[in-house]
Amino acid sequence: MANLTKDHSLDHLASYPSSVQRVARALSSRNLNSLRVLLRNGPSAVLSFVSHSYHLYSGFGLPHGWQRLPWRNDLKIPSRKIDELFPGMDCTRSPELLFPFPRHLGVLPQELIVLTKVVDHLKAKRVVEFGTAEGRTALNIALHLPPGGEIITLDFPPVPGQNEIGFFYWGQPAKSRIKQIFVSVDAWDYRPPHRASAELVFCDACDRMPGLAAEA
Ligand SMILES: C[S@@+](CC[C@H](N)C(=O)[O-])C[C@H]1O[C@@H](n2cnc3c(N)ncnc32)[C@H](O)[C@@H]1O
Repeated sequence: MANLTKDHSLDHLASYPSSVQRVARALSSRNLNSLRVLLRNGPSAVLSFVSHSYHLYSGFGLPHGWQRLPWRNDLKIPSRKIDELFPGMDCTRSPELLFPFPRHLGVLPQELIVLTKVVDHLKAKRVVEFGTAEGRTALNIALHLPPGGEIITLDFPPVPGQNEIGFFYWGQPAKSRIKQIFVSVDAWDYRPPHRASAELVFCDACDRMPGLAAEA
């Protein structure tokens, strides 16, 4: 992880765009194509078109291919081939996954494959996940833990009627390996026995500071 106090290349993570920036980006997301979509497909289609264009120009939540575009200047973590990172990991066949298909902006099936492969490869006894959401990743990691293994997964306390944190694992036998903690990542007490106790930590809660720093 970069030195967050000295490395100004990560400054853009420290704050959300101002209202002026957001308006400017929204305006720059419109183009002649949006007019065509409006005329051909109507207002809800054009709203979707402009919001996806906005995502494109703001650089978050982009489809797979967009994550490698050469003009992106906010991708600071170098990418490596999987066998450079985990030499000897068997990638010849995919693992068994439950509920593999993602929700919008959710973890992609190939990301679930990599995560569970790594759990298998490291024979990880303890995994920490920041950001449970519906619990798809927590469940799939739990399925691949060795006997006695556990995954600790953190999220905010659920809001009744609004979200159901972890519902994918609720009725599953693997639930016994999942320890759900309802707390903000920056408030979690990660002193022993938790500190430095996990073979794998999946940071998937926060996109920006200060939560991002707390996860790191
Ligand atoms: C991208 S989703 C996690 C998806 C999940 N890891 C999966 O693979 O299905 C992000 C989750 O992080 C949670 N979150 C965001 N900020 C958080 C914080 N500061 N502390 C704890 N949880 C947070 C959100 O409530 C949301 O459920």
